[in-house]
Amino acid sequence: MAFDNLAEKLAQRKAESLYRRRRVLQSPQGATVCVDGQNFLAFCSNDYLGLANDSRLKAAMVDAVNLSGVGSGASHLVNGHHEQHHLLEEELAEFLGVERVLCFSSGYMANIGTVNALLGKQDHVFEDRLNHASLLDAGLLSGARFHRYLHADVASLNSKLSRAMHPGSERLVITDGVFSMDGDVAPLAELAQACRQHDAWLMVDDAHGYGVIGKGGRGAVNAAGLSVKDVPLQVGTLGKAFGTSGAFVAGDETTIETLIQFARSYIYTTAMPPSIAAATRKSLQIVMAEDWRRQHLATLIAAFRKGCEQLGFRLMSSTTPIQPILMGTADLAIRWSLFLQEKGILITAIRPPTVPAGTSRLRITFTAAHTEADVMRLIDQLKIGLRNPELAKALRCEDGQ
Ligand SMILES: Cc1ncc(COP(=O)(O)O)c(C=O)c1O
Repeated sequence: MAFDNLAEKLAQRKAESLYRRRRVLQSPQGATVCVDGQNFLAFCSNDYLGLANDSRLKAAMVDAVNLSGVGSGASHLVNGHHEQHHLLEEELAEFLGVERVLCFSSGYMANIGTVNALLGKQDHVFEDRLNHASLLDAGLLSGARFHRYLHADVASLNSKLSRAMHPGSERLVITDGVFSMDGDVAPLAELAQACRQHDAWLMVDDAHGYGVIGKGGRGAVNAAGLSVKDVPLQVGTLGKAFGTSGAFVAGDETTIETLIQFARSYIYTTAMPPSIAAATRKSLQIVMAEDWRRQHLATLIAAFRKGCEQLGFRLMSSTTPIQPILMGTADLAIRWSLFLQEKGILITAIRPPTVPAGTSRLRITFTAAHTEADVMRLIDQLKIGLRNPELAKALRCEDGQ
């Protein structure tokens, strides 16, 4: 019988503690949320600046719905490219100091469309082995020769680049800016240097950096002192710090025109609702103006790291709001997540295939909506959890276990 192994595959996932279950969110995002009928203090959204439920964004969105309707009604190249989309692209381009920006309906689509508009079978793509799934999928789908270099390891990249200098082929190096599951920042200046030496382009997906790091929230490329000359393709998503939905690619005029002509996930899909673009325009103003949100995040992160280090947990070398605690096995990560859930704290266990085997973790994220008291409540519960010998194994886990 066709596809008769599906139930077996599901059972295997369950047996390996890798089964995923969707919880139903019944409140807006915020420091506290209602999930499946219960209230939690939550540390797992990507709403880093606490803007997803901001009254100014909501008002901008409602106004735009009243003016422009709900759906965009068509793709961008037919007649769905609304003035709100156009203005958002212009304002993002000014914010980032680039010639042009193109907005996509999601980060996944931006990555798939961009890489596939530029690469073919004759080309080479080089990806950090911890890149986000959408970047890995984009590279694989392009049919280009696929190289994965060791995480944030420029020597590993250099050696792969120097073996791929075939005439008539292009080389594209792709990295997360802030890594989504680890929270560390890619060594962008060194990667840009490697690209210059090997006549390659660098693409940085800074979904988790825009709004959060760099001057006025201008992201990891800005924080590294680089420009579009060093990083010709800069991708950001709008569903994280910007609090809305969608994504953008920033580049020069020719690059963006190429994407408009050839990026299939831009061309063959309905444009995002204009009201999302309008809310994002408001969000951009707040991202630029309200530095206090980033300062507050820095205070929360410092308090959390100090508390966790005192307890002996294994943290990652992250200065961003993504602050995972390494657990090792999927089973241990789930036990911790359930323990915290019983205490009214929501943190998801991140397991393979999202992260490499043996590196399951609690992915703790902070938002500017959290208070220092929220962080202290989390630390207190982590401390209580350590009294349980099964949970205390987290202190002894090793990489690769
Ligand atoms: C680095 C990175 N790129 C792209 C995406 C996908 O963005 P979107 O959710 O807008 O599809 C994500 C997460 O969602 C991400 O973490």
